Amino acid sequence: MSLNVKELREYEPELMNILKKYSGSEYELIEVLHEAQELIGYLPKEAQKIIARQLDLAPGRVSSVVSFYNHFSEYSKGEFQVSLCKGTACYVKGSQEIIEKIENKYGIKSGQTTEDGKLSLNIVRCLGACGLSPVMTVNGKAHGLLNPEKAVKIIDSYLNGKIKEEENA
Ligand code: FES
Repeated sequence: MSLNVKELREYEPELMNILKKYSGSEYELIEVLHEAQELIGYLPKEAQKIIARQLDLAPGRVSSVVSFYNHFSEYSKGEFQVSLCKGTACYVKGSQEIIEKIENKYGIKSGQTTEDGKLSLNIVRCLGACGLSPVMTVNGKAHGLLNPEKAVKIIDSYLNGKIKEEENA
């Protein structure tokens, strides 16, 4: 999802205030991106273009830094944030098939959020629950011993409100 014109206008004055603090050098790019992400919650393309213009950088330079660092995200986070483990223990037990099932079913890749803002997917390394591999967390709650069907059933239960965040699934 990206910001619409109205949303971007709301953020632009504050974004410009952030940018004014900097002298306009490329060395400051990471710091500027940190502050911009804190302000908006993520770094949509439109904001990246403003940053590039103010720091006199090519937009491609800014977007390559955003995609290089895991900390930065070009997409807003969904209401339900799925982190799926692709660490060694989970990988050998089939996490790749689960990832593909989720990507196909919900139409998002790692780092993306569904258009309705409900679901985000992140592929991560070892969630520290290897004994339950393959594992994912949904908003921080772990679900283990997954297979592709079980994983989407759990995600659907969150989306349908059948699993509330505070419940144990
Ligand atoms: S490798 Fe997946 S939880 Fe450790």
